[in-house]
Amino acid sequence: MKKILCVCLGNICRSPLAEGILRKVAQEEGADIEVDSAGTANYHVGDAPDQRSISIGRKYNIDISSHRGQQFEVAHFDLFDVILVMDYSNLNNVRMLARDEEDKNKVKMFRPGDNIVEDPYYGGDSDFENMYQTLIKDALYWITN
Ligand code: 4NP
Repeated sequence: MKKILCVCLGNICRSPLAEGILRKVAQEEGADIEVDSAGTANYHVGDAPDQRSISIGRKYNIDISSHRGQQFEVAHFDLFDVILVMDYSNLNNVRMLARDEEDKNKVKMFRPGDNIVEDPYYGGDSDFENMYQTLIKDALYWITN
């Protein structure tokens, strides 16, 4: 079973939605995949996802309301095969904790190329819709590759 961890800064906006999307696509594809999410910061440990992320998920039949924020830690390198980050700040923060090349190689940008999943925290509803549309585009790739 492939194990994927999605990582952002707060683990309340982007990565819980990314987790929910990957889980749904995996179910649709019949893929045996375990998904979780975490944040590099500890601001929202134990918190439910941002209401705006819960709402956009609900709009597309994805329920992320039961997720609780957790902080990324070194042990996650042992628990997951792939660690998908949303932006370069996440990439640096997670790679900084890598113990060796094997850990480092697990960390990848969720989007291909130089693209990031922008932080919608200080944005509005349209930014959350855009985040969903951005994440769903590359979800199938991570489920099938
Ligand atoms: P996320 O968004 O990294 O997509 O969960 C953020 C959530 C909270 C904060 C920043 C970004 N914050 O500063 O509390």
